[in-house]
Amino acid sequence: MLKKSITSTCNRVNQQRILFNCSRSFHKTQVDELKDDKCSIRKGPYGDFLHTSLTIEKTTNPLTKPAWEGLVFGKQFTDHMLEVDWNSEKGWSNPKIVPYHDLTLPPSCSSLHYAIQCFEGLKAYKNGEDVFLFRPEMNSNRLNRSCARLGLPNFQGEEFIKCMAELVKVEKDWVPAKKGYSLYIRPTVISTERTLGVLPPNNAKLFVICSPVGPYFKSGFAPVKLLADPKYVRAFPGGTGNAKVGANYGPTIMPQLEAIEKGYSQVLWLFGADHQITEVGTMNIFFYRIADNGEKELITPPLGEVILPGVTRSSVLHIVKNEFKQPAREVTYTMEDFIKDVENGRILESFGAGTACVVAPINAISYQGKEYPIPVPPKEESLAMKLWDRILSIQYGEVPHEFAHNVEDIISGKSKWNPQSY
Ligand SMILES: Cc1ncc(COP(=O)(O)O)c(C=O)c1O
Repeated sequence: MLKKSITSTCNRVNQQRILFNCSRSFHKTQVDELKDDKCSIRKGPYGDFLHTSLTIEKTTNPLTKPAWEGLVFGKQFTDHMLEVDWNSEKGWSNPKIVPYHDLTLPPSCSSLHYAIQCFEGLKAYKNGEDVFLFRPEMNSNRLNRSCARLGLPNFQGEEFIKCMAELVKVEKDWVPAKKGYSLYIRPTVISTERTLGVLPPNNAKLFVICSPVGPYFKSGFAPVKLLADPKYVRAFPGGTGNAKVGANYGPTIMPQLEAIEKGYSQVLWLFGADHQITEVGTMNIFFYRIADNGEKELITPPLGEVILPGVTRSSVLHIVKNEFKQPAREVTYTMEDFIKDVENGRILESFGAGTACVVAPINAISYQGKEYPIPVPPKEESLAMKLWDRILSIQYGEVPHEFAHNVEDIISGKSKWNPQSY
C-alpha cells in the first residue's frame, strides 16, 4: 500500500517535471520547435485509438436539416459525434462514432474547475459529391501540442484524422453544397478526472462535434474597426497563448464587450511595454505596407509565446511567398511602427486571418484616444481579396492543391501531407 502511494507520488513529481520541461521547449520561438512530437509528455500507451478499431452507430432519429441560409454560427449540430476515452493505465479506448448526445460529467471533473480543456476548429468543404478538409494535419498537431501543455494525453495524428474524416463522411449530407458554406468541425479534449486537485488528469475524453455554417460575411465584406487597449493582454511569455486552450478565451469576453460598447467590433491584442501588435480577436493579423526599399510587403508578427500558430496564417504566408511571389515577412511590429506607417502613408491594407472568415479586412485602429484609419482597397486591387479567392478555390477543391484533402482519400490512406507541418 505504502509502496503504491510512494510510486504514485513519484509518478506525479515526474509528470510535473516533464510538464515543466515540456512547457519550456514549447515556448521556444522557432517554427521547428512547434512541430509534432516535440513535447508529447503523455505519449503512451496510445491504446486502441486506431482507425481500424473505429465503430459506427448511426442514429435512428435523424434531425431535419435547416435551411442553410438561416444558419447562425455554432448553434446547429449534426446527428453524430466522435468519442474516444482515455485513462492513464490503458491509454485510449477504441474510437466511436455515435449519435450526438449530451455528456454526463461528475461535478468534480477537473476540466470544469481548472479549464483542463483544449480544442480545435477546422472545416469540411463540399464541391459536388466531393468533400475536402484543409490541412487537417495542422489542426491535429496543434491539438496534440495543446494537450501536452495541459498534461492531457497525446494521440496519433494519422489515426485521429482518419476517424474525423469518417465522421465527416457519415455527416456528408450536413456539409452544405454551396460556396462560402461549410461544416465546422470542433475537436475537443477534456479532463474527465474526478478531483478538485490541480493535477495531471488520469482520465480524459476526446470528442468531435460538427456544425453547418454559413459565410462569415453574409452581405459582402464588412471591414472591422479595432480597439487597441494595452490594459488587457491575451497572452504572455510562459503562458498558453500559442496553444488553443479554452482558458485563453473566457478572459477575452470582457475586453470584447468593452470594445463593442465603444463602437469597435474586435480587440487588437497588444503585448509588452512597446505595445507590440500580436493578434486581432481570434485571428492572426497582417499588414500590407510599403517597405523601406519601396517594395510592397506583407508582414505579420513572428510565432512565439504570444501568437497562436494559425493554419490560415501559415497558408497566407505560403501563398503570398510561393504563389504570388511577393515578399512576406514575420516581424515584430509595434503601435509606434504602425502609427509612423499610417502617418507616412505606407499602409496599403490590413486584415485578420482565421478559419472562420479566411480574411477580415480592417479599416481602423483606435489607440490611446485616437483613431487611425487604414485603407480598404477595391476588390480588384486588394491583396486580402486575392488571398480570399485563392484560399477558397483550394478549400473547395476547385484547383488541385497539396493543402486540400478529399475525405475519401484521407480514409483510404491515399492522402499525403507533411506530418511535421506545424
Ligand atoms: C487566438 C487565435 N488566433 C488565431 C486564430 C486563427 O487560427 P486558424 O487560422 O487556425 O483558424 C484563432 C482561431 O483558431 C485563434 O483563436
